[in-house]
Amino acid sequence: MPTTKRWLQRYDYVPPARMVLLPSELTDRQEEIERAFFASLRLKNGTYKTTRGQRLNDVNELLLRHLPRDHVLQLMDVAVSSGVATREWAEALDRAALEYELWAGDVSLEAYLLGNGAALNLLADNTGYILQFEIAGDAFPAPVGRYNLLRFGPQILWMRIANRAFRPEAGDSSLQGWFKKSGWRKQDVLLLSPRVKSHPRLHFLQDDIMRLRSDLAKMDALRAANILNESYFSPGQLRRMFENLRSRVKDNGLLLVCRTDESEVNHATLFRCGIHTVSVVDRLGGGSAIEKLVL
Ligand SMILES: C[S@@+](CC[C@H](N)C(=O)[O-])C[C@H]1O[C@@H](n2cnc3c(N)ncnc32)[C@H](O)[C@@H]1O
Repeated sequence: MPTTKRWLQRYDYVPPARMVLLPSELTDRQEEIERAFFASLRLKNGTYKTTRGQRLNDVNELLLRHLPRDHVLQLMDVAVSSGVATREWAEALDRAALEYELWAGDVSLEAYLLGNGAALNLLADNTGYILQFEIAGDAFPAPVGRYNLLRFGPQILWMRIANRAFRPEAGDSSLQGWFKKSGWRKQDVLLLSPRVKSHPRLHFLQDDIMRLRSDLAKMDALRAANILNESYFSPGQLRRMFENLRSRVKDNGLLLVCRTDESEVNHATLFRCGIHTVSVVDRLGGGSAIEKLVL
């Protein structure tokens, strides 16, 4: 198992998933390690898990100014990545002494580690899509670039075969039995920062905002930060996501859409969602670029 110390000495490779998700120790540079790890993960739908602490402080303040205080709030944060920004929202709500439950979803939350107990390890999402390879302590994201393909072609092929045997839809096969006898093991993990899991009012769930869902409580407010981006999705997809999120909010509930730009400035719009109407309540920076699509 590569140690945190070893990674800190070498910046030329990505922190291995095992080191970040199952740490033997938390260091004072944990934030930096997690940020490098999550930013390196490219998901099946082409989005990245980029996030960082203190990114949404002004967004949290804006929400605090508009949240009601007369009942226990149902709140949701979508596309939360490592969860650090959601944890900070919870802490801001705690400081303001609000009563709430906060639901935090991401399409890529449930994942697994697969390894042969020696040099070969990989991280895949819960559909079996590989996110990271780790070979003898050197970790690199998938899709694999030419350099790593030339260095590790046979090992990568072998790991892909092992992953086919273990991915969820494969079930128990004789190939999987063979790999198990050879020492391969699969371990379920959550793609979350180890620092965020234990907050009594924060509940994480697997959640694809492209899908409608009816199993959630209606929310007083929902936050969608750095996901409804024109660079990620087509106008049609963005409209669909917005409508799906709107359907999760109570009548007259709040929906905040935000994008953090390259200079770390937040551009957000806070919408109020009636049954038949959507209106703008407040803005940060230049407002959300998707306003023109949804109003
Ligand atoms: C750039 S991160 C945003 C993290 C955090 N909200 C922030 O602002 O720091 C984008 C996240 O969106 C998630 N994501 C991508 N497609 C999604 C979808 N269809 N439904 C839910 N989450 C999605 C990714 O897994 C990733 O964690």
